[in-house]
Amino acid sequence: MATVVGVPKEIKDMEGRVSMQPDGVAELVHHGHEVIVQSGAGAGAGFTDEEYTEAGGRVVDGPEEVFSSSDLIVKVKEPIPEEYDLFKEGQQLFTYLHLAADKGLTEFLMERKVNSIAYETVEAPDGSLPLLTPMSEVAGRMAIQAAAHHLESPQGGAGLLLGGVPGTPAAKVTIIGGGVVGTEAAKIAVGMRAIVRVLDVSPKRLAYLSDIFEGRVDLVIPNRARTAAYVAESDVVVGAVLVHGAKAPKLVTRDMVASMRPGSVVADVAIDQGGCVETARPTTHSEPTYVEEGVVHYCVANIPGAVARTSTLALTSATLPYLIHIADRGIEGAAAEDPALAKGLSTLGGDLVSEPVAEAHDLSFTEAGKILG
Ligand SMILES: NC(=O)c1ccc[n+]([C@@H]2O[C@H](COP(=O)([O-])OP(=O)(O)OC[C@H]3O[C@@H](n4cnc5c(N)ncnc54)[C@H](O)[C@@H]3O)[C@@H](O)[C@H]2O)c1
Repeated sequence: MATVVGVPKEIKDMEGRVSMQPDGVAELVHHGHEVIVQSGAGAGAGFTDEEYTEAGGRVVDGPEEVFSSSDLIVKVKEPIPEEYDLFKEGQQLFTYLHLAADKGLTEFLMERKVNSIAYETVEAPDGSLPLLTPMSEVAGRMAIQAAAHHLESPQGGAGLLLGGVPGTPAAKVTIIGGGVVGTEAAKIAVGMRAIVRVLDVSPKRLAYLSDIFEGRVDLVIPNRARTAAYVAESDVVVGAVLVHGAKAPKLVTRDMVASMRPGSVVADVAIDQGGCVETARPTTHSEPTYVEEGVVHYCVANIPGAVARTSTLALTSATLPYLIHIADRGIEGAAAEDPALAKGLSTLGGDLVSEPVAEAHDLSFTEAGKILG
């Protein structure tokens, strides 16, 4: 089956990533598909229109033709309201969606009968999330880079150097959630010589972290009292929890944030799933921080967009094999054959087929299996 695949330019604030590299276009064309690329879509990641044309893509001006001529839209970030009207009924969509944090988008995809698979919920049989992992690696590393920057006095921070210097105490970093984001954040924080703790509910994960950090990170199973005590004495708190597909639990309360020293930094990376810090609300790369309870909050929902070249190379290498399968078989056929893609199914023919998203918004849920047959 030949599919027309559309690559629009991302329009979220300062978002430089693109959903396909030119060599991915060449691969799809080799499989007998057509690829339409919006002019300038790759510019933020350093890819020119000419490179897409040479790879066999058709470059067009503006998003209208990309959306109106394509069977399958492949994006990076979830559609924002300015893009809603571009979608056709029955169109297929493969992108990050984070629907548990966005009821409006969920209802739109159902109403417009868009058939969607969310990158972040594609789940391998071992429970790993192959399309979230590369961006979580980037975001975890960037979270510490950003926190270190915002601890500086000119940025409104407490004027602390993360690792201190000999003779001064290093900053204390508490990371809540020791998955991919948390682990990468811990690596960079340890590398910058901060004092680092990771709180995670999974003993198995803590055992793994114990092996890789060999005593350089404190590893703790949290409860409310422990979380409160650690947050109160931290200069940096990183939010990095995930309950697959669901809204993030609020683990750090406003009172806990208020107990931190003024000028400390909260970096809530889990903000794309609603955030795990009560005082967190989404920010953008143009205005990445705000101060609440005296604490600088960095809650950018598309952190990897700031390092667009690295992030595009990492993301598209992971998505391409799945994308080819979807283009070859259609979303329904590919999901019926591949359990990892089936886990990522979000909306199908007007039905909501993700149970955690249905629970988050009190909407009715339909088993995808009933539709796929
Ligand atoms: N803001 C961004 O730009 C950006 C980029 C990438 C990922 N993210 C988000 O970062 C979050 C983390 O992603 P990840 O890939 O590291 O997920 P992950 O599944 O690898 O790790 C999540 C960890 O949270 C732990 N956890 C779950 N409930 C917990 C609780 N109550 N207390 C402590 N730990 C708990 C789990 O045991 C797991 O180890 C997700 O919300 C993801 O969408 C955001």
